[in-house]
Amino acid sequence: MQQNLPRGSSSGNLTERANRVMVRGNTRSTVFVPPHPPYAAKGEGCYVTDAAGHKVIDANNNYTALIHGHSDPDIGDAVRQQLTSGTAFGLPTEVEVQLAELLAQRTGYERWRFSNSGTEAVMTAIRAARAATGRDIVLRFEGSYHGTSDPVVAQSAAGITAGNRQDVIALPQGDWDAFDEAMAQHGRNIAAVLIDLMPNRAGLQPASHKFVRHVREVTQQLGVLLIVDEVITLRIALGGLTEEYSITPDLVTVGKIIGGGFPVGAVGGPERILKVFDPLGSRSVGWGGTFSANPISMIAGKVALEKFDATRIEALNAKGEHLKRLLEKAGVCVAGRGSLVRITEQLPADDLWWSAYERGLLIGTNGLIALSTPMNNEHISEIARISIAAVKHLKPSAAHVPQGVIN
Ligand SMILES: Cc1ncc(COP(=O)(O)O)c(C=O)c1O
Repeated sequence: MQQNLPRGSSSGNLTERANRVMVRGNTRSTVFVPPHPPYAAKGEGCYVTDAAGHKVIDANNNYTALIHGHSDPDIGDAVRQQLTSGTAFGLPTEVEVQLAELLAQRTGYERWRFSNSGTEAVMTAIRAARAATGRDIVLRFEGSYHGTSDPVVAQSAAGITAGNRQDVIALPQGDWDAFDEAMAQHGRNIAAVLIDLMPNRAGLQPASHKFVRHVREVTQQLGVLLIVDEVITLRIALGGLTEEYSITPDLVTVGKIIGGGFPVGAVGGPERILKVFDPLGSRSVGWGGTFSANPISMIAGKVALEKFDATRIEALNAKGEHLKRLLEKAGVCVAGRGSLVRITEQLPADDLWWSAYERGLLIGTNGLIALSTPMNNEHISEIARISIAAVKHLKPSAAHVPQGVIN
């Protein structure tokens, strides 16, 4: 593996071409790192090689989506077979039914509706909640990321209208008083409370069980629907992180791992709510999507989930907990749970990202590490070693490497 690659030198000659046709040379804000990001050329198992030939362990996994890493042979075989039968139809397909059955079985939510991203899943859930309750307001928690639709981004963001701001309440997560006050004042006009039980961008700290139970109780009393966003956290347990909270949300949004590496999102919930989309219902909510539930995403997701049963989930979570302990022992500040770990050192995010990348590790631009099933114990040790070295390089006092920790 190359070491000490100069920052920004790993993009081959693509940056210049890319900048001519895209603002800052790419399409996703989430993958931009200044001065410009490297371009991926090839992924294999838990490795990615960039356009300049620099090979790194991929602990980003397309922001947690690639639960089996790159080029998984079983997903590849199923997708290749599906390619020969067609990639998209103006009709539903059996494989969409199969993925919905699988999700229902794993999570307990009876009805499913697919989309092409987590963003759209959250949009769908919000529309369903508004249609089912006849109310407008969505209450969400600051710092949590739920995609890019208007109701879920910071209401001070450029491009958000005053009209939209009227229909959104954003509160600090865990702020019991603020929540009670908002519910007392606006509860009867609130369609849904949207919560992520371990918000990555807000620090990847699990929400307090007491607070979540309180939210569930109050929402139930006021006829407000509770939407739990499990787009990232579904990987933590068969039924998602909600399983650990002993609550039943009204709707759940998922995405990422359920597409096996292809675009996907889904909302799950009971018939009593999702019937708002019944095309034969009165005042039915129309919701299309040319590529929603396309059979490529569906078959890839089905195979990915089948290969990620309770035993494998537990094994991957154990690897994550081991990694967390290694980092903690070395004095690196971390957060997270199971196969999701985040370096929470107070360091400029870009510096940390490059420091890890140059040393052979791809992480999220906020220090997120998402493990994948091709990773073995040696990969975990290597991820720990590089993370510690990356942090130590930027903040020599923060991390030390005690004897015998890495193994
Ligand atoms: C919790 C959560 N919800 C929603 C989304 C949006 O998903 P997508 O990027 O597929 O639109 C994300 C993306 O990272 C997420 O982490």
